[in-house]
Amino acid sequence: MARTVLVTGGAGGIGRAIAAAFLAVQDTVVLADIDKAEEAAADLGVRGVAVDITDEKSIIRALDEIGPVDVLVNNAGLLGIHGRLLDLPGTDLHALLRTNVLGTFLMTQHVAHRMVQRGTRGAIVNLSSIGGRQPTPGMGGYESSKAAVDAITRWAAVELAEHGIRVNSVAPGPVLTPVLAAGLPEGSPARKAWLDRIPLRRLASVDTVAAAVVFLAGADHITGTSLPVDGGQLLT
Ligand SMILES: NC(=O)c1ccc[n+]([C@@H]2O[C@H](COP(=O)([O-])OP(=O)(O)OC[C@H]3O[C@@H](n4cnc5c(N)ncnc54)[C@H](O)[C@@H]3O)[C@@H](O)[C@H]2O)c1
Repeated sequence: MARTVLVTGGAGGIGRAIAAAFLAVQDTVVLADIDKAEEAAADLGVRGVAVDITDEKSIIRALDEIGPVDVLVNNAGLLGIHGRLLDLPGTDLHALLRTNVLGTFLMTQHVAHRMVQRGTRGAIVNLSSIGGRQPTPGMGGYESSKAAVDAITRWAAVELAEHGIRVNSVAPGPVLTPVLAAGLPEGSPARKAWLDRIPLRRLASVDTVAAAVVFLAGADHITGTSLPVDGGQLLT
């Protein structure tokens, strides 16, 4: 039976691919974003809803509008803020934690409340990062937020299991989104530096990440895991 799948950050590079992947298996997709939700949703022919995942009033308004959700994909996130430990302003760390940690928590809490109330044996998939487990200089603020996303995943999985709700993460290495492709042009030293860290010698495509999200959303006996989609980078 078709599930209703809510994808946050659905207007972004990976979010669009996730929305398209659920559509391809005949699910009903609702794309939510703080920016350009309607435009991105119209491109895919799905419903678009504006939401700020850091704002509870906005979340409640969006969830009331959307109705029952079977699968939540916590994909919205901030990833463009970098800085080394000795330099990163505290306000930048706060911004990363506010969106990636507080936002993921609030969406999980509000959607899970509604699933429990309705008796929906649903699934939640979070977008983490292998950076939560493997450091790269200059990326520690972001990585700290993704380590917390993995902790929220385990926390939610162990507490929501009694309601039949499964919670997992997909943890990509660098993903070839339009933004990343522009920042790391093919043949550039920066692109080569990443490729040299990846045993399979290529970056993940957005479709590969989306396929892992669809898999975990339907993986009957899997909960509390964070699945690397990293070409083996964690092995090095
Ligand atoms: N691109 C990568 O290499 C990579 C690697 C590992 C993990 N990830 C994770 O995948 C997810 C998607 O990344 P992406 O590369 O598609 O980034 P992106 O910037 O293209 O998309 C992120 C989307 O989240 C939305 N968003 C930001 N703050 C929001 C808020 N408060 N409320 C609602 N929406 C908000 C943005 O508007 C944007 O559309 C992120 O969680 C990111 O951390 C990305």
